[in-house]
Amino acid sequence: MTDGAASDHPDTGAPRVVLGVSGGIAAYKAASLLRLLTESGHHVTVLPTEAALHFVGAATWAALSGHPVHTDVWSDAHQVPHVRIGRRADLVVVAPATAGLLAKAAHGRADDLLTNTLLTARCPVVFAPAMHTEMWEHPATQANVATLRARGSLVIEPAVGRLTGADTGPGRLPEPEEIFEVCRRVLARWQAGGEAGLAEFADLTGRRLLISAGGTREPLDPVRYLGNRSSGRQGYALASTAVARGAEVVLVAANTELPDPAGVKVIRVRTTAQLRDAMLTEAVTADAVVMAAAVADFRPDSYSDHKLKKADDTWAPIVHLVQNPHVLRELTANRAKPGQVIVGFAAETDDGERRAVEIGRDKLARYGVDVLVVNEVGVDKAFGSPDNEAVIFAAGGAETVVGYGPKEALADAVWDHVVAALPPA
Ligand code: CTP
Repeated sequence: MTDGAASDHPDTGAPRVVLGVSGGIAAYKAASLLRLLTESGHHVTVLPTEAALHFVGAATWAALSGHPVHTDVWSDAHQVPHVRIGRRADLVVVAPATAGLLAKAAHGRADDLLTNTLLTARCPVVFAPAMHTEMWEHPATQANVATLRARGSLVIEPAVGRLTGADTGPGRLPEPEEIFEVCRRVLARWQAGGEAGLAEFADLTGRRLLISAGGTREPLDPVRYLGNRSSGRQGYALASTAVARGAEVVLVAANTELPDPAGVKVIRVRTTAQLRDAMLTEAVTADAVVMAAAVADFRPDSYSDHKLKKADDTWAPIVHLVQNPHVLRELTANRAKPGQVIVGFAAETDDGERRAVEIGRDKLARYGVDVLVVNEVGVDKAFGSPDNEAVIFAAGGAETVVGYGPKEALADAVWDHVVAALPPA
């Protein structure tokens, strides 16, 4: 095979991505990831391992990347490809990363072009593991993952689901679209970071974060509920930006229809009671908790287990409401871990006398949170939109205005505050 290295890519300023593919059945999904990367303007060098070529042949990688591929360091040795490819890369992503590949990477073993390149790369490295649950959970694999993370690599938690055979469990490669999202964010952050080192780039590594998203619903009968218009997008943006900064993330999602972000453990809930249970249980081991969910303040005081029927042409039910527990206040009143950082959201409207932001600011002390994100809501504002604007209040008194923009930008600003408030790891 000939050199398909970065030299084939003209220097257009487009980000240079190395896509490493190791030998697992999920290698076929890497073809979709490659497509997403090339179609969005990245220069991609594909480095399959010999084992990967048993699953997807070199012709597929060459055709989809537009460049020849090779697996060894001897082709075009005069160009020293393993050094050139690694040095020039802006991002290396290995998907799927098998247990064997993670072991080699953790131990610095270099016996093919991909593993050599992993040693010469000075850019962010993302591993998307895929393997059987037993292999993923094996202490050897977990130790290798811990080593890689400690060195600043990003190892995405595998998804839970159907594996090669009929079996299911943790070990599945996340969907290519979701791995692509992580790559996009990692690249954006790396490129914006300038001189920041790898440690600063993945500044949530080793942190366990708990996030709530969406809106709770309170059932009246088997077909009706009281709910709100939250889409969950802000909470999902918080989850995926945290993964791209190295965190382990648990997302409690209330009635959302968004795809599971790569590397995130998603717990689905419907009612406030279910959300409360999940949050209080998961908070025990969380370094930071972010309550981005729109929690229903009230619920009907009774539930009809059959559908409410109109008795005649004028009858309508009178619904009595009771207040729900305030989950955020419970979390701050009983911090499950010393130094745990707790973030609240307040969605406000102007009340005629005071601005929404002023109303929101008061909640910082009232809720006992470390960080409060206040945004103004209205019929056309915030809900369901990919964009958001807000003011972030920190317990020390600092105020940060985050202008109108993608919910990811607000999410990163929230994590900047969390990083500043967390005690040293
Ligand atoms: N929240 C909560 N439990 C509730 C209601 C709200 O944990 N039962 C959390 C939300 O997730 C959010 C914060 O509290 O982080 C603020 O929610 P908001 O609706 O703005 O405040 P309310 O408590 O409902 O106050 P208000 O009386 O002004 O509506």
